[in-house]
Amino acid sequence: MPKRNRDAPALVYASAAHDPSLCDRLREAGWSVELIGSAHELERTLRHAPAPNVGLLEIGDEHPGTMGAMLEHCVGAPQVHWIAAVTTNQLRRAATRELIGCYCLDYVFLPYAFDVVESALRRALRLASLLRGVSHAPPLAGGQSIIGRSDPMQALQREIQKVAYTDAPLFIAGESGAGKELAARAVHDASSRAQGPFVAINCCAIPPTLVQSELFGHERGAFTDAERRKIGHIEAANGGTLFLDEIGDLPLECQATLLRFAQDGTIQRLGSDVSIPLDVRIISATHVDLEDAVRSQSFRFDLYHRLCVLRIDVPPLRERSTDIHLLAFHLLGLYAGERKSRIHGFTPSALRAMLLHDWPGNVRELANRVRRAIVMADGAYIRAVDLGLGEPPVRRALTLADARDEAERNCLIEALIAHGNRSNEVAEELDISRITLYRLRMRHGLQDIAGLMPPDFPERRK
Ligand SMILES: Nc1ncnc2c1ncn2[C@@H]1O[C@H](COP(=O)(O)OP(=O)(O)OP(=O)(O)O)[C@@H](O)[C@H]1O
Ligand SMILES: [Mg+2]
Repeated sequence: MPKRNRDAPALVYASAAHDPSLCDRLREAGWSVELIGSAHELERTLRHAPAPNVGLLEIGDEHPGTMGAMLEHCVGAPQVHWIAAVTTNQLRRAATRELIGCYCLDYVFLPYAFDVVESALRRALRLASLLRGVSHAPPLAGGQSIIGRSDPMQALQREIQKVAYTDAPLFIAGESGAGKELAARAVHDASSRAQGPFVAINCCAIPPTLVQSELFGHERGAFTDAERRKIGHIEAANGGTLFLDEIGDLPLECQATLLRFAQDGTIQRLGSDVSIPLDVRIISATHVDLEDAVRSQSFRFDLYHRLCVLRIDVPPLRERSTDIHLLAFHLLGLYAGERKSRIHGFTPSALRAMLLHDWPGNVRELANRVRRAIVMADGAYIRAVDLGLGEPPVRRALTLADARDEAERNCLIEALIAHGNRSNEVAEELDISRITLYRLRMRHGLQDIAGLMPPDFPERRK
């Protein structure tokens, strides 16, 4: 193997029959080129430093006969940004188009036009250097970061920063699995209490008979099983934040005790009449409509007003569809674990299926589906079926006749508008007779284009 120039960008050139003049010109242009003709050679090259980040994947007409296994290995190397080189013949095959669409950054045609292939490789190199050191979907600290760049999520992030400044009780509304607890945690982390405890309690997960002692604690002997003193969750949150999840499910008798704490900031352990002053910020959440619960008298009106001084709403996932892919890749990075090197992403149809799904279970549902898909996927890319989603309908391919029709209509509209609907001028520009123009307007339903004209355009007819 020739010695590599460590400063030259490394390029792996995979082909069943390498083009020697292309290799020479690439080397002249400063690339350190590795020629690969087998899966074994590819593996060996990827082990050497500096590992190539850019690859040229030649899919000539002899594929898949000689190149089948080789291609599989190439696309299984996610650290390499591939540019495909294909013949027009190959590009007619749906399998080739899918392979390029899923695994390659771009493609060029064979036979090679040197400038075209070199500039595609340079683009791949620029992208590779941007991503150097960044894994495909970096797991974030503790998996706790709020992911989302959509407008609703940016608005939520701003609200979180604002409400973090104060100690006033905060209520977080949102559908199940939308990220209420994550938002509560973010408020705590952004507040002056960040160094204090964050205690989260799911009110509906505690048996009703135990709620009082779980929340407020008890003294030894307070009841039959109370063998020793127990600090309750509220006291454990002293100096920090208490997150009361599913507050709507809190039994009415507990609501009265909680109201006392919300009003004067003190608690009494069960079996004690000593009031303990606490410094706790309350954040509560529920997926049920709390106003409705107040109307039906299953939730105390006075407690509602104590807890809902501030309110933020976590939007459902279907209202922030631009975040779905971002979240999916984030979750993939989070859950893939040791399979990370095997699973590189999602197929285009899986990505489309995610956008079409309604996500009633919100981010939790997405997380569960991604976890399941990581286990179920056979290949390097997760398919819609691995996510338990139906294949999305195939986008209708445009026939040549349709494309011509569309182009003809657009061309007519542009000319009619440009010439203020004046037939003589339009016919002259389009180099057709007035009769043909009339026929075309009838065919495309463009007899009356007033609706297509800008409002202040004086329509003149000749
Ligand atoms: N924007 C987000 N970015 C990253 N992860 C998220 C995001 N939103 C939610 N998650 C993840 O989705 C899961 C559900 O979120 P969370 O528990 O905060 O939802 P919830 O609204 O409290 O649900 P429930 O109503 O069922 O209690 C968690 O694993 C959380 O980390
Ligand atoms: Mg929750």
